[in-house]
Amino acid sequence: MTTTTKTEEVRKEAAECAQAATSAQDLMSRMVKLLHERMLKYNWVGFYMIEQEPGRSPILVLGEFQGAMTPHKRIQLNQGICGAAASTGKTVVVDDVAQDPRYLACSIETKSEIVVPIFVRGEVVGELDIDSHFQAAFKDEDRALVEFCAGVVGQYLEKSRA
Ligand code: SME
Repeated sequence: MTTTTKTEEVRKEAAECAQAATSAQDLMSRMVKLLHERMLKYNWVGFYMIEQEPGRSPILVLGEFQGAMTPHKRIQLNQGICGAAASTGKTVVVDDVAQDPRYLACSIETKSEIVVPIFVRGEVVGELDIDSHFQAAFKDEDRALVEFCAGVVGQYLEKSRA
């Protein structure tokens, strides 16, 4: 199977997750399992969602994930690659995490990372973060797949918060 066929298949399965899900949390749980199981280089897959408590700065809080336990359960918006994606609202792809001073280490095996923001009505509400044990694991078609998955979750949240 070519990698394009594979990402197309997984994209379809991600859309099916939204049909089958009983809640946003259930959708995110299905999504991390799907991406972790089906995409061999996606060694850690997780959601961070923005928590906004009155009188405090917004913070990213770890939600559903698959992979090794991470020490980073709460990340400030001005910290890490996760904070960069959330605060700019832009996808961040890092081919070699050792070269990026923003990087917060989760596992010594991680070599590359992608973080894609999730939007609800134009506002960043969280993000989908994926780490790989391989350098430069996230090519254009991976970026498109992960952005699609983040979009599916954003649309689901938008509907459920209507
Ligand atoms: N590497 C991320 C932290 C999260 S862990 O990878 C799970 C960062 O630099 O923000």
